[in-house]
Amino acid sequence: MEVIEVKHPLCSAKLTELRDNSTSSVRFRQLSEELIYLLAYEATRNIQVVNKSVVTPITTTVGVEIKKPVPLVLPILRAGLGLLDGMLKIMPQAEVGFLGAIRNEKTLEVTTYAQRMPENLSDRHIFILDPMLATGATLLKAVETVSKLKAERITSICLLAAPEGIEHLRKNISPEIDFTVVIAGIDEKLNEKGYIVPGLGDAGDRLFGRAD
Ligand code: URA
Repeated sequence: MEVIEVKHPLCSAKLTELRDNSTSSVRFRQLSEELIYLLAYEATRNIQVVNKSVVTPITTTVGVEIKKPVPLVLPILRAGLGLLDGMLKIMPQAEVGFLGAIRNEKTLEVTTYAQRMPENLSDRHIFILDPMLATGATLLKAVETVSKLKAERITSICLLAAPEGIEHLRKNISPEIDFTVVIAGIDEKLNEKGYIVPGLGDAGDRLFGRAD
């Protein structure tokens, strides 16, 4: 497992604004989209391409295009949806699957309630989108799900992580799985309720409202 913390002043400034309790949902969604551009640039650095010839106004040359089967982007419902549009702007060729996961706020146990993705993911690079890597239980479930479907390579893009969540993934994801996490920031700790500290609160609520 590889962990990449993208240390860039633009990421840090956007993250600071996201953390701010007074940032509106409208601005929070804008910032999440801007951040995903920067993180996706890093996360897609090693996607597979094949040569493709192109006729320019001057001559013919060889460039590249994304190899097929194209990458699959997998937002974790619901907060991962806040990162989807930006990801698709950067990589419009990708296909999109969905995984619904919910955390029991008392036991912190995670269950999945919806799944839409191809039954066979062999030869595919999967990009899991989940803004908050807190206990690591949701991401572990997602990685296990796509590994069982034979995903070749898995990259997760998160806005914030807690060290406990990263440790949980390191302990539980087999080193044979080609797995990378790209994060804008690694915070101090988890609190007793499983929230990242200092964090930014509940990412789903801040993106979309409480909706209950
Ligand atoms: N999920 C969130 O949205 N925020 C946290 O801090 C932890 C999990």
